[in-house]
Amino acid sequence: MEWQWFSRWVLVIGGVLGCLCVCVEGLGVNWGTMATHKLPPKTVVQMLKDNGIQKVKLFDAEQSTMSALAGSDIEVMVAIPNDQLAVMTDYDRAKQWVKKNVTRYLFNGGVNIKYAAVGNEPFLTSYNGSFLNITFPALQNIQNALNEAGVGDSIKATVPLNADVYFSPTTSAYPSAGRFRADITDLMTQIVQFLSKNNAPFTVNIYPFLSLYGNDDFPIDYAFFDGVSKPVVDINGIQYTNVFDANFDTLVSALKAVGISNMTIIVGEVGWPTDGDKNANVGNAYRFYNGLIAKLAGNKGTPLHPGYIEVYLFGLIDEDAKSVAPGNFERHWGIYRYDGQPKYAIDVSGQSQNKFLLPAQNVEYLSNKWCVFNPNAKDLSKLADNINFACTFADCTTLGYGSSCNNLDANGNASYAFNMYFQIQNQDPMACNFQGLAQVTTQNISQANCNFTIQIATSSSSRGSSLVTSVFITLFMFLLV
Ligand SMILES: *[C@@H]1O[C@H](CO)[C@@H](O)[C@H](O)[C@H]1NC(C)=O
Ligand SMILES: *[C@@H]1O[C@H](CO)[C@@H](O)[C@H](O)[C@H]1NC(C)=O
Ligand SMILES: *[C@@H]1O[C@H](CO)[C@@H](O)[C@H](O)[C@H]1NC(C)=O
Ligand SMILES: *[C@@H]1O[C@H](CO)[C@@H](O)[C@H](O)[C@H]1NC(C)=O
Ligand SMILES: *[C@@H]1O[C@H](CO)[C@@H](O)[C@H](O)[C@H]1NC(C)=O
Ligand SMILES: *[C@@H]1O[C@H](CO)[C@@H](O)[C@H](O)[C@H]1NC(C)=O
Ligand SMILES: *[C@@H]1O[C@H](CO)[C@@H](O)[C@H](O)[C@H]1NC(C)=O
Repeated sequence: MEWQWFSRWVLVIGGVLGCLCVCVEGLGVNWGTMATHKLPPKTVVQMLKDNGIQKVKLFDAEQSTMSALAGSDIEVMVAIPNDQLAVMTDYDRAKQWVKKNVTRYLFNGGVNIKYAAVGNEPFLTSYNGSFLNITFPALQNIQNALNEAGVGDSIKATVPLNADVYFSPTTSAYPSAGRFRADITDLMTQIVQFLSKNNAPFTVNIYPFLSLYGNDDFPIDYAFFDGVSKPVVDINGIQYTNVFDANFDTLVSALKAVGISNMTIIVGEVGWPTDGDKNANVGNAYRFYNGLIAKLAGNKGTPLHPGYIEVYLFGLIDEDAKSVAPGNFERHWGIYRYDGQPKYAIDVSGQSQNKFLLPAQNVEYLSNKWCVFNPNAKDLSKLADNINFACTFADCTTLGYGSSCNNLDANGNASYAFNMYFQIQNQDPMACNFQGLAQVTTQNISQANCNFTIQIATSSSSRGSSLVTSVFITLFMFLLV
């Protein structure tokens, strides 16, 4: 009795201490770098450490990122971008990649590399099959090269795939009926057999936000984790109350259908954006993440895959240079803003405490200067062209329908576009002219829900690039006249 009481307290205290600086077991983040102004890699790594985030997934193997991660003990998934898959079908090139981007960092105090991602969602239907023939050979070469280098036991090659590689052919999308997409069933079968043989994980990206996006019939509560009035009841009687579980279990079934029943499944990306769509906002992101993390902390897993799941949130920091082909929300996936400031409370310790992540430290900003529409401008005939120009190079995605700056008036719109351009040009005075339509101000013209931001100062904001830009602007303006 005494002893049980004592040991229970040891457990409780141990649990509390363990959780103080450690995040949910297995919780990782995607660190993408498609931003005009990147936080220094060392700053980002310190931010990860400060928040107890122990796993990170990259989209390449940039040396500056890898150097910053060295000595941190953070587990890393390095990656080969899709445009390098073709060369990896040559075994010697694959060996070089492994040597240059993996084994080179495996010294004492180096980088704790756990996985090599071969491509990124290469079988998306929007790629028109461009990577269908090369992904599997590249995967084989990379894993074989890892094996040959003697590190294949601890470093696994995997292919992060979009959840569109599988589906449920039933009208009610029952997870138990999950199958791989018909056009790639044979390919997927070969890939998962190879992964299985090497004890490598299947990596899938699951996006409840995208289930909702552009589908007004989708039951919104099903995208989150706090319950629905009408669960989906599978033919086997299992009830699904969220699309994440249903989607994951569709994959479990698809794998089972090709004879694989015990493969490790990693969720390579999952997250919720905060701007650029009517459903993309801080409130929904908060609701999504806090439901997801509480679920992960409980190690409940899904009905067909109970227990621990390794998950990487998408993403760490907003990326203002991402393609907006999928939608305006693409540049707003960060749990942090572009400047390393947290956007909402998210408790990565899994204890559902309403607390913010710690921000990036010692971030340097440009001066408090904004570029705004000049109210005294006479000739407004070129206003639209100039806004267009600004928004071609800078990020205006918050101006759209359902976004944070959608309620600005026409002048506000112009100011917003001009300012975004001025900031990405590091406040170069020449970048705030727009044929006399713009002027610099030191007055913060942000509004309640629309931020006119000041960019961060980066080492890459060098004179050289702004000279090139100036020449470019001059040329462009010449074309406008
Ligand atoms: C190593 O990774 C970097 C960054 O992703 C890439 O540019 C480079 O080509 C890779 N090296 C080799 C030898 O493939
Ligand atoms: C795929 O095909 C469509 C239609 O033919 C085309 O518009 C698109 O640019 C192609 N995409 C790629 C990545 O090749
Ligand atoms: C892939 O290979 C098949 C068979 O070798 C060929 O018919 C097809 O054109 C190839 N596809 C691409 C996109 O290269
Ligand atoms: C799956 O089962 C096979 C055969 O029983 C075994 O060799 C393999 O290690 C298992 N893989 C995992 C991830 O448990
Ligand atoms: C401001 O710009 C947005 C996005 O381009 C547009 O939808 C909106 O109508 C504009 N507002 C005004 C008042 O021009
Ligand atoms: C500008 O004002 C907004 C809203 O009042 C505020 O959140 C932001 O921090 C201010 N920006 C600067 C650079 O002071
Ligand atoms: C604007 O920026 C401030 C920090 O400077 C932040 O607290 C606020 O949430 C931001 N508002 C929006 C709508 O992004």
